This record gives sequence, structure tokens and C-alpha cells, in this order.
Amino acid sequence: MLAGFLLAVGTIGMSSTALANPVLPDTAISPLPTYTNFSSSCESIALYATQAIHRLPDQLKARCRDNAGVLHSAEIDLNLCVGINYQNASLLWSIYGKFSEYCSSCWSAGTRVEFGCACRLLTGNATKISTNSTLDLDTGIGNVNGTLHCAGGIGSRGD
Ligand SMILES: *[C@@H]1O[C@H](CO)[C@@H](O)[C@H](O)[C@H]1NC(C)=O
Ligand SMILES: *[C@@H]1O[C@H](CO)[C@@H](O)[C@H](O)[C@H]1NC(C)=O
Ligand SMILES: *[C@@H]1O[C@H](CO)[C@@H](O)[C@H](O)[C@H]1NC(C)=O
Ligand SMILES: *[C@@H]1O[C@H](CO)[C@@H](O)[C@H](O)[C@H]1NC(C)=O
Ligand SMILES: *[C@@H]1O[C@H](CO)[C@@H](O)[C@H](O)[C@H]1NC(C)=O
Repeated sequence: MLAGFLLAVGTIGMSSTALANPVLPDTAISPLPTYTNFSSSCESIALYATQAIHRLPDQLKARCRDNAGVLHSAEIDLNLCVGINYQNASLLWSIYGKFSEYCSSCWSAGTRVEFGCACRLLTGNATKISTNSTLDLDTGIGNVNGTLHCAGGIGSRGD
């Protein structure tokens, strides 16, 4: 399962020395916990913005089934788990990655739970911009008993 997650992360272009070295003490944060495929047990999936400063759709909202199959309203702040690659400003899974600090617009893309943004590095080379970097949210968000989880945190669950 873990190998599958690392493979999935690899396909979206994450480069991380922590992930490249799985031999870590149990207490270490890395490798990232495995949370995937929330969309297979959630519906009414939507992205919306709450922070007036950024106005980016950085909150993921859905109706997710608990273990008994009952739907609950669930939401999670993608800033807990999505960041940018500091080489080229593309999106990647990163604990408390705070992608909102680097991205100027975001959207849903493609047919699966694909999320895209235009992002740039805050400092240095202004050519290091990604105009349409995408991330499949199913590769890093899971549904645990009706609550959305990602490597960087746990969302809230309603009725
Ligand atoms: C950014 O860099 C990563 C890792 O080097 C690479 O996999 C990815 O394709 C790059 N993305 C873009 C948009 O250049
Ligand atoms: C998530 O879904 C993909 C595509 O359907 C599948 O290949 C993968 O095995 C699933 N991962 C887990 C952990 O269930
Ligand atoms: C971003 O790229 C995806 C495919 O990777 C495409 O479906 C989408 O239309 C693009 N969005 C924009 C705004 O260019
Ligand atoms: C900025 O990055 C581009 C592309 O990586 C490179 O060609 C250019 O030399 C860099 N400029 C500076 C000032 O680092
Ligand atoms: C799952 O959520 C239900 C509904 O809130 C709760 O009754 C149950 O104890 C939870 N199960 C686990 C394993 O946390």
C-alpha cells in the first residue's frame, strides 16, 4: 500500500529526499502517510475559497460515507497537504505546504479529481513559474470513516 502511494506520488513529479529514503525512525513524519482515493467513497465534491486574502479555491468539500455507509458533510484545507516544488513551482504533496502562498489562481481540471494552479516562487528567479501545474487529489486525500484526511492533517466532519 505504501509502495503504491510512493509510486503514485512519483508520477505527479514529487522529488523529496525524505521520500527517497524510506529508512527512517518510526517517530519521523516521513514517509508520508497513505491517504488516497477519497472520491470513490465521497460525492458532491467541490472546491471553494474561504480566505479573502487569496481568494483561491483551497478548501475541498464533499459528502463522504462513514464505515456504515452514511454520508456526512466533510471538508479539508488543502494547504495542510499541498505545497509547491521549489525548483519549478509545480504542485506537490507536502505537509503543511501552504500552496496558497505561492499560487495566483486554481481550478478543477480533467475528468478525475484533478486540481490545477498557476504558481510562482516568492523569491529569486521570476522565470520559475508553473502556469498550469496539476495534482490528482485522489493520490493524496483519503476518506476515513466520513472524514477527509491527508498527510498534513485531518479535516472536519459535519452531520
Ligand atoms: C517540476 O519538477 C519536477 C521534479 O523535478 C518534475 O517532475 C515536474 O515535471 C516539473 N514540472 C514542471 C511543470 O516543469
Ligand atoms: C486508488 O484508485 C486507483 C485507480 O482506481 C487504483 O489503481 C489504486 O489501487 C487505488 N488505491 C488504493 C489505495 O485503493
Ligand atoms: C490545465 O491542464 C489540464 C490538463 O493537465 C487541462 O485539462 C486544463 O484545461 C488546463 N487548465 C488551464 C486553465 O489551462
Ligand atoms: C532563471 O531561470 C532560468 C531557467 O531555469 C535560467 O535560464 C536563468 O539563467 C535564471 N536566471 C537567473 C538570474 O538565475
Ligand atoms: C465512524 O463514525 C461513526 C459515526 O459517527 C461512529 O459511530 C463510529 O464509531 C466511527 N467508527 C470508527 C471506527 O471510528
